[in-house]
Amino acid sequence: MCGIVGYIGKQQAYPILIKGLRRLEYRGYDSAGVALINENCDLNVYKTKGKVDNLTEYCSDKDVTGCVGIAHTRWATHGEPSARNAHPHYSQSHNLAIIHNGIIENYADIKAKLIDKGVEFKSDTDTEVLVQLVEYIMQKKGITLLEAVQVALYQVIGAYAIAIVDKRDPSQIIAARKQSPLVVGIGQDEFFLGSDASPIIEYTDKVVYLEDGMIAVIRLGEELKVMSILGEEQELKVKKVDIDLGQIEKGGYDHFMLKEIFEQPECLTNCMRGRINVEANHVTLSALIDYRLQLLKAKRIVIVACGTSWHAGLIGKQLIESFCRIPCEVEYASEFRYRNPVVTSDDVVIAISQSGETADTLAAIQLAKEKGAFIYGICNAIGSSIPRATDTGTYIHVGPEIGVASTKAFTGQVTVLTMFALALADAKGTINRDEYLKVVKELNRVPEIIKEVLKSNEKVRDLARTFTYAHNFLYLGRGYSYPVALEGALKLKEISYIHAEGYPAAEMKHGPIALIDSDMPVVVIATHNAMYEKVLSNIQEIKARQGRVIALVSKGDNTISRIADEVIELPDVLECLEPLVATIPLQLLAYHVAVCKGKNVDQPRNLAKSVTVE
Ligand code: F6R
Repeated sequence: MCGIVGYIGKQQAYPILIKGLRRLEYRGYDSAGVALINENCDLNVYKTKGKVDNLTEYCSDKDVTGCVGIAHTRWATHGEPSARNAHPHYSQSHNLAIIHNGIIENYADIKAKLIDKGVEFKSDTDTEVLVQLVEYIMQKKGITLLEAVQVALYQVIGAYAIAIVDKRDPSQIIAARKQSPLVVGIGQDEFFLGSDASPIIEYTDKVVYLEDGMIAVIRLGEELKVMSILGEEQELKVKKVDIDLGQIEKGGYDHFMLKEIFEQPECLTNCMRGRINVEANHVTLSALIDYRLQLLKAKRIVIVACGTSWHAGLIGKQLIESFCRIPCEVEYASEFRYRNPVVTSDDVVIAISQSGETADTLAAIQLAKEKGAFIYGICNAIGSSIPRATDTGTYIHVGPEIGVASTKAFTGQVTVLTMFALALADAKGTINRDEYLKVVKELNRVPEIIKEVLKSNEKVRDLARTFTYAHNFLYLGRGYSYPVALEGALKLKEISYIHAEGYPAAEMKHGPIALIDSDMPVVVIATHNAMYEKVLSNIQEIKARQGRVIALVSKGDNTISRIADEVIELPDVLECLEPLVATIPLQLLAYHVAVCKGKNVDQPRNLAKSVTVE
């Protein structure tokens, strides 16, 4: 949801900013722009509609010199995607330029007041209001940029990560954050800024994750200063990042999404490393040791999340209820936060988020905290806002996910939820010892099983070609496979723009069956488990209406193979771990259908990786 990059130092800023924008393009890609102060103290702002490539083409004959600059890649909220609405935005005098990620909610009021004072606006954005306000305050009160930013932010309601430069003082960038992420990298006589650490790690591993409500004063030749809006200086918390550059590059794959699908065996191994003791067949999560009492006393668990993370939560519910015998509810964070839910200090709320920045999930956490619940986070992005807002939690450790459609984060989340349910059940004594050992042992084997499933890639690719004609898809599953059906449908619609719906298989006859005809592909998860016979009947119902069935079956199944139009075989795995395995061909199917249709797999239209606005 908008990417922010900044540089100040002795190197030319432009190449660093452009490389950074490319790393952050997953956060939004409807327009991009850069502001540079050259050695004559000219402030040059260039911006274009569309991707970063459009920006670099546009800048090819422009003055892009300067050792200080800020740059932005946008996901539109206020104002259509266009060069005019792209960031950076100038102040009226053209002395200041700003980039912003977030939403200024009271922008209309401020804008009206500034227009009354004679300020002219050039864009439809909420962001321009902020830079105009800062300049207005500077002029009216005769104060410094830093002081004016403090005063302006005090008046602003909403969420922001911002960076501002002033051509009259080119050795300084002022940055600030509230609810939108911002990281400052500290190099040798140079500083970097990023919405996450990915544009920074190539240059330095020393970073400061700016806390909510904080301003960073980045001045060449001085130490980084962090202070509150009221000017109270804060202790500098410098962290070391250890993201490997290879993790955020495509590594020979055509798309990040395909790379991330294929990385899953390794990612899940990393996710379980140090947490599953293979010799002892034992799961240990540090959060469950440190916060044992708080977790053991839970009378109810409420999972809050959005999108794919919510689907992982649905699987978590089944694992928790089945192993721990604790009632568990799964809520869309966006609904939970606004419906005055009943939450008490007897509840544990689990917040699941890949990015760790999703605005609705963060708000749901705040609400649950106020009501006294203990909050446990399951996140991927290290140091992001959600892990910092929770009481404890577990990182999924699957590495940066760049493809906008989530793949490895989903399986990482399900793996952590499985470990969590096992460890809690073990501590509570609600799981039979043999079952515990069997599940732990099999969970440890899942990366190898996924490697096996990935061998079906070519088959799935060929199959995808046959189905690109479709305008609708239905995905069916039962029990643990129902959330997998939801996730399969979401993946397909996100990247191929084909309408798809996931349903519990038995619900088909209560409505969706009316849709079935010879044009309707129905993906059915029909592996050999307790529901096999029932799902088989559902397949027969579909075939009786000429629907086209793509069935995910257990290896060696020759009953469904004879009825279904297409079959993808899966290795046997315990039913509770099936989501980790059955998801893989559905990710591949969505990927290949989208590629066949010529869609931009890594950057689907209208989506952004990190949804930092409501
Ligand atoms: C789908 C997808 C989204 C996210 C959702 C929540 O592929 O990526 O549905 O799952 O926006 O994001 P996080 O997990 O970052 O909170």
